[in-house]
Amino acid sequence: MALTAKTVDLSVDLGFLSLRNPVLTASGTFGYGLEFEPYLDLEKLGGIVVKGLYYGPREGNPPPRLVETPSGLINAIGLQGVGVEAFAREVLPKLRNIKTPVIVNVCGADDDEYAAVVEYMDKQEGIAAYELNISCPNVKREGLCPALAPQSTFDLVKRIKAASRRPLITKLSPNVTSIVDIAQAAEEAGTDAVALVNTFLAMAVDLETRRPKLGNVYGGLSGPAIKPIALRMVHQVASRLAVPVIGLGGIMTGTDALEFLVAGAAAVEVGTANFVEPDAAARIVAEIERWCEVHGVVAVRDIIGTLEVS
Ligand SMILES: Cc1cc2nc3c(=O)[nH]c(=O)nc-3n(C[C@H](O)[C@H](O)[C@H](O)COP(=O)(O)O)c2cc1C
Repeated sequence: MALTAKTVDLSVDLGFLSLRNPVLTASGTFGYGLEFEPYLDLEKLGGIVVKGLYYGPREGNPPPRLVETPSGLINAIGLQGVGVEAFAREVLPKLRNIKTPVIVNVCGADDDEYAAVVEYMDKQEGIAAYELNISCPNVKREGLCPALAPQSTFDLVKRIKAASRRPLITKLSPNVTSIVDIAQAAEEAGTDAVALVNTFLAMAVDLETRRPKLGNVYGGLSGPAIKPIALRMVHQVASRLAVPVIGLGGIMTGTDALEFLVAGAAAVEVGTANFVEPDAAARIVAEIERWCEVHGVVAVRDIIGTLEVS
């Protein structure tokens, strides 16, 4: 059989959602998806996670909001967005025409706001699942995000899971001592899956002006610089949880994505790569397929969690 024959089954099943391939785009790095239509066929993707949605529209943080660092990017966008009404009115009807699952990244300044976003979105059609962004600064917790402690993670996930009619993916922050404790709290609260990692708290300094390079002083580090840490966390969490794990952090190539799958991720998300190359996610799908062909892997799901550690 010729090596170039398209015989690889790329589909993966998260239990609550089947994907044509394991590659989704990460929230906040791919707009609402539609902005990327000129660059790639959105129906080549496994799924699209749209940028974080608070209830109302938000301006975000003061500029500068992005700084490039060695093999990385620090962002302090501050979750700028259009809010639920404009999203439902202007964006969702267009996304419904695309035959790719759309996942809404849900944000909130307190637990009530998360619940309000989900309540509003539950009345809309064309959403496959919610991704709960528990890394938002919380006004009722002295600015700390729910993702930082097992109890606040548990409370929020339990409330949102009970309130929503759709599957829930809880997106974890890496800025914790024990990622497994947080992941287990989310699982005990009933999450259908976890996604990790969000960005690492970071900063950049301009020596000449002796000022922070970001208007917000601190931001979140993403890109290839974080991949080894993300991979370690995905492996730790996938080894301990029964629910599926979606892995992300610095994925730039098909090889990167496959490493996450082997480490235990059931699917992956591509983030910062979209800024470098707007069709990166489609290229990564093609590279996964090619790798499987060359290595005689008939179905990509067969390599999930196959890392040998002893
Ligand atoms: C500019 C920018 C905006 C982001 N916005 C969001 C967001 O709205 N919600 C969210 O959960 N994560 C957000 N993230 C985090 C990414 O989805 C992803 O978790 C992180 O960047 C790590 O993946 P990567 O290294 O592939 O970019 C954002 C990241 C960047 C770089």
